[in-house]
Amino acid sequence: MAVERTLAIIKPDAVSRGLTGDILRRLEAAGLTIVALKRLRLTREQARAFYAVHRERPFFDSLTDYMSSGPIVALVAEAEDAIRRWRELMGNTDPQEAAPGTIRRDLGLDKEKNAVHGSDGPETAATEIPFFFSALELN
Ligand code: RTP
Ligand code: MG
Repeated sequence: MAVERTLAIIKPDAVSRGLTGDILRRLEAAGLTIVALKRLRLTREQARAFYAVHRERPFFDSLTDYMSSGPIVALVAEAEDAIRRWRELMGNTDPQEAAPGTIRRDLGLDKEKNAVHGSDGPETAATEIPFFFSALELN
């Protein structure tokens, strides 16, 4: 398995509850390396562009309003098999379905306000990372 990079986002519900440090600690404790990191607030239009793949889903408006409702922390994490490992740390989309010890089970509020995002594959990571970070920030 090659070293790969994933985009991770600490979502507004987690940033606003002061959970950034807890989540970064879990990510680093699992052996992933933070190679870029920033705090920002998306506009509604930016959130709609980021989640464009979901534009036909019934939850699209609610999701993009929520993702633009407050600051987020976006980061790039690197490790062997980083995409799968970060998704495993996050747990199931619905915190109630997520395994004990996962971030969403421990910290998520509901199926939408579920604390974190992770790229779902190498092609997704390759478009999500440059959405937030320039080449200069990714040395
Ligand atoms: P993510 O993209 O945020 O890492 O989450 P995921 O792959 O586990 O879930 P996905 O199906 O890609 O959905 C993206 C985000 O949309 C919200 N969602 N709400 N109300 C609902 O039924 C519903 N389903 C999904 C969540 O915030 C989910 O993480
Ligand atoms: Mg997804």
